[in-house]
Amino acid sequence: SKGEYRHYMLKEIFEQPRVIQAALEGRLSGNSVLIESFGPDAQALFQKTRQVHIIACGTSYHAALVARYWLERYAGVPVQVEVASEYRYRHPVVPEGSLFVTLSQSGETADTLAALRFAKTLGYVGTLAICNVPGSSLVRESDTTLMTRAGPEIGVASTKAFTTQLVALMLLTLSISKARHQQEHAGIVEALQTLAKVCEQVLVLDGQIEQLSQAFAEKHHALFLGRGAHYPIALEGALKLKEISYIHAEAYPAGELKHGPLALVDSEMPVISVAPNDDLLEKLKSNLQEVRARGGQLFVFADENVGIRSQDNIQVIELPHVHEALAPLVYTLPLQLLSYHVAVLKGTDVDQPRNLAKSVTVE
Ligand code: M6R
Repeated sequence: SKGEYRHYMLKEIFEQPRVIQAALEGRLSGNSVLIESFGPDAQALFQKTRQVHIIACGTSYHAALVARYWLERYAGVPVQVEVASEYRYRHPVVPEGSLFVTLSQSGETADTLAALRFAKTLGYVGTLAICNVPGSSLVRESDTTLMTRAGPEIGVASTKAFTTQLVALMLLTLSISKARHQQEHAGIVEALQTLAKVCEQVLVLDGQIEQLSQAFAEKHHALFLGRGAHYPIALEGALKLKEISYIHAEAYPAGELKHGPLALVDSEMPVISVAPNDDLLEKLKSNLQEVRARGGQLFVFADENVGIRSQDNIQVIELPHVHEALAPLVYTLPLQLLSYHVAVLKGTDVDQPRNLAKSVTVE
């Protein structure tokens, strides 16, 4: 049941600290990841893994895009990410030593399942499913699986399934790094252990985000900007807003602004950005300056230490500092809350948006 919450989506957003902790339970030991979490054959499989192909749809696809940044940076393996409906009709070239990974909340998404069946004919070293539903088709048909343990997700707009997928993908990154290069990333493991706490601190910002949402209720368009691993977080923020508030939203890597979308920016265009404290911060700041110079209205979720402050045309909500590697996960939360509150203001059916189904079991 929804308990004290008005909608399942809100309940599921607030469950995230607990399910993130559940997704980590028994999968770390001291400052190290336990590769066996991926099954008894995982060590051998990851040692053979020279590149990774990740296939998914919708929100799960956005999680895969984040994982590309992580796997390349921290595990040193090349990664390709694609939506299942495209992959299954291509003629993919599969280099030796490729691992095939699917991501799915339901484990029943028709295109993702078809992609897995197709991939099995292409000579991958193995297939791994990261999934939230035990016993689902995807889980049954993959060589190896890791469950995300988010619990049942009722809201059509995926929230806790996404953040627990990110936890699982970070565990995959750490496991491949350890199996292939004996490299541990103790700092990330340590940060994972306090991740649920940081998420709790972010959820406390709910009231501030609800206030902010009023600026969106009358808008017809919104632009989301991010850089690096936060570009997929911008994509996910835009998808959430579209799905439940029916406001047209687009996401761009901030560096692409000048190549077209800047033409859309005027005083009617809200621009939402996430600004964690990472090595792209200065670049992002100058992109935001480009928006301000055109009179765009900026809404920025920023690390408390980066010194971006509210002023004319820019409203800032500060987030607690978090390890750079885990920032994509943490910065997802305020974007979920923002779209939730905008949808509530607009009076849409938050848990059952028009035209959408929770599980897309037909092509
Ligand atoms: O169950 P799956 O993760 O395979 O579902 C994939 C998409 O259909 C799903 O993420 C969809 O985009 C959500 N409605 C997003 O909120």
